[in-house]
Amino acid sequence: MSWGIIATWRMALEGIQEGVKCLQNKGNSGDAIEKAIKMVEDFPYYKSVGYGGLPNENGEIELDAAFMDGDSLSIGAVAGIKDFKNPISIARKLSGERVNCFLVGQGAEEYAHKNEFERVNMLTDRAIIHYKNRLKETVDKGLSPYSGHDTVGMIALDSNNSMVGGTSTSGLFMKKRGRTGDSAISGSGFYVDSEIGGATATGLGEDIMKGCTSYEIVRLMKEGYSPQEAADKAVNDINNLLINSGLRNAILNLSTEKQ
Ligand code: GLY
Repeated sequence: MSWGIIATWRMALEGIQEGVKCLQNKGNSGDAIEKAIKMVEDFPYYKSVGYGGLPNENGEIELDAAFMDGDSLSIGAVAGIKDFKNPISIARKLSGERVNCFLVGQGAEEYAHKNEFERVNMLTDRAIIHYKNRLKETVDKGLSPYSGHDTVGMIALDSNNSMVGGTSTSGLFMKKRGRTGDSAISGSGFYVDSEIGGATATGLGEDIMKGCTSYEIVRLMKEGYSPQEAADKAVNDINNLLINSGLRNAILNLSTEKQ
């Protein structure tokens, strides 16, 4: 049996290497994904995920994450969660819940607290400096503050043919308090079915959600498209639709792109 793990962005490399070790030693895809994404969340210099992530317009770190098991199609997700170290682990735990498996804000924090997940102030000095500089630059140069939102998304396949997907992000820089993008939303930021394949997205959530892009990719793979063909078609179709209808407001990026 073969195994594999793939992710968005260079920031995932060290995590992927851990995931590979896990899968090589007959570990399962859920453990590989959780380990790998935790490494990205824990590294303070990746400024769009986890500790040291991009603040919202109030200077707070609100994080989104999701975990999907491609065997059972179970999903766990958190959105707008503050002050917990590893949102991916909370999302994974939630994927074991039959109901109430997608929690936001205070509800997500209460669940995490009750289940003894580690609390950490996720706002670093570096993120505060970045926030202040960007705020000034945005005002001085009249720029859009809404750039820099690189989600880590991963898909892993283990030697038992089980596939898992995970995402984690601080979302859009300078987002409104409570704003959630695609990363916690099934079918938009991620989708995985062990019988078919999986996809995760990175880019502007507001646009990705318009095309349910990750689900669309998996659906196309089910129709017989290769992963690359399915990703190209899903992205191009929604991109063209948005351009033609005048609704497009950002470039879509998927995991096939390089940083
Ligand atoms: N893709 C991440 C976000 O828009 O929040």
